Amino acid sequence: MSFKHRDFDHNSADFRKDPAAVYRELRAAGVGQSEHYGGFWVVPTYETVQAVSHDIETYSPADGTMLPGVLDRPLLPMESDPPLHSEYRRMLAKRFSPKTIREWIPLIREAAQALLKDVLANEPHDFSLGYAKLLPTAVICQMLGIEFKAELQEWVEDVVYRRISDRDATDRAIAKIHNLFRDLLPGRRANPRDDLISLVLQSEIDGKPLDDETVIDFCFFLLIAGLDNTNFTIRALLQQLAIDHTLRQRLVDDPSLIDAAVEEALRYFSPVIALGRTARNDTSLSGCPVHQGDKALMLFGCANRDPAEFEEPDKFDIDRFPNRHVAFGVGPHRCLGSNLARVEIAVAIEEVLKVLPDFELAGEVDIRWDDLGPLLIKPRTG
Ligand code: HEM
Repeated sequence: MSFKHRDFDHNSADFRKDPAAVYRELRAAGVGQSEHYGGFWVVPTYETVQAVSHDIETYSPADGTMLPGVLDRPLLPMESDPPLHSEYRRMLAKRFSPKTIREWIPLIREAAQALLKDVLANEPHDFSLGYAKLLPTAVICQMLGIEFKAELQEWVEDVVYRRISDRDATDRAIAKIHNLFRDLLPGRRANPRDDLISLVLQSEIDGKPLDDETVIDFCFFLLIAGLDNTNFTIRALLQQLAIDHTLRQRLVDDPSLIDAAVEEALRYFSPVIALGRTARNDTSLSGCPVHQGDKALMLFGCANRDPAEFEEPDKFDIDRFPNRHVAFGVGPHRCLGSNLARVEIAVAIEEVLKVLPDFELAGEVDIRWDDLGPLLIKPRTG
């Protein structure tokens, strides 16, 4: 076991400052064990992330995918095993299909334009706090059928951004979000609407509806599942475009390239750094003895920079083809919201380029996964 593995902590500030450098060392060393959070196997390469993701008989997400854990109830449908997991996916699949998500584009565009109006009213423009962060929340609130309000935004931020730094705030926010859904259920059961809450409430498994607390677990995860990651990708891609003027001009001249830029941003920035599994039986991974009950942490970001799969992996290249990144995971638990996320990021970028085709950074930017610092941008003058 290498020194790097033993000390590796995916939540540490040092790692998050320059993940690419750590990734290179972890990949070179292969699978190994970290001593943090009670010990876990580090799964760093494209090949091993694929192997663990696909082997759902051995590696289960049901005991929690976050290290450290976020709450003592499951994030559904993610933290469940077959056969229930397949039923859960079936319940939701149609709502997140490419066709259904395409129908949301006008609303997403409208929300982006409304937020942009406020952002552009002040200079320099902060595209992080008032735009990248708010757009995904506004959209999922509409899909769930709940009101988008400042208080809710504060709660989701306490859950998704402060779970390491302020555990008490996270716990309080989780309770408030659970209560919000708990209070909504009787009304929505009596008067169902065309929203995700009603869909989950009306779903049946083996002929029986889900109990209220399970419905709340679904609503909770559907609310938070696509917030920090989508926000981070919009923000990181805008920063990239503020620095790389040639690339930005290419996208302005040919907006059909925006989708390829979104794919490359997902690979290059890999907003979901890592997710965990628990071994259901003794096995081996890349020659390492994995025992029943062991945790294994798949490093999606590290796999997405693996030279065994990607040529010049540390280069941001929207012409990369194929681009088989694992930013949304792979296998049976692959992101259910990937179509939504892609559309949100693409529309967000497209709308900025329409009103501000030539821009640059207006200050130092520190792209980080775990905070929400501003992304200050100004029109380019020279
Ligand atoms: C850039 C944005 C996003 C990224 C990078 C991302 C990434 C991921 C990843 C890596 C997983 C895999 C979990 C695993 O293998 O255990 C996942 C699962 C999931 N994501 Fe996303 N996600 C994004 C946006 C969204 C959005 C907008 C939603 C909408 C609600 C969403 C809903 C889900 C759900 C429900 C699952 C669980 C799927 C299952 O276990 O069957 N995600 N996501």
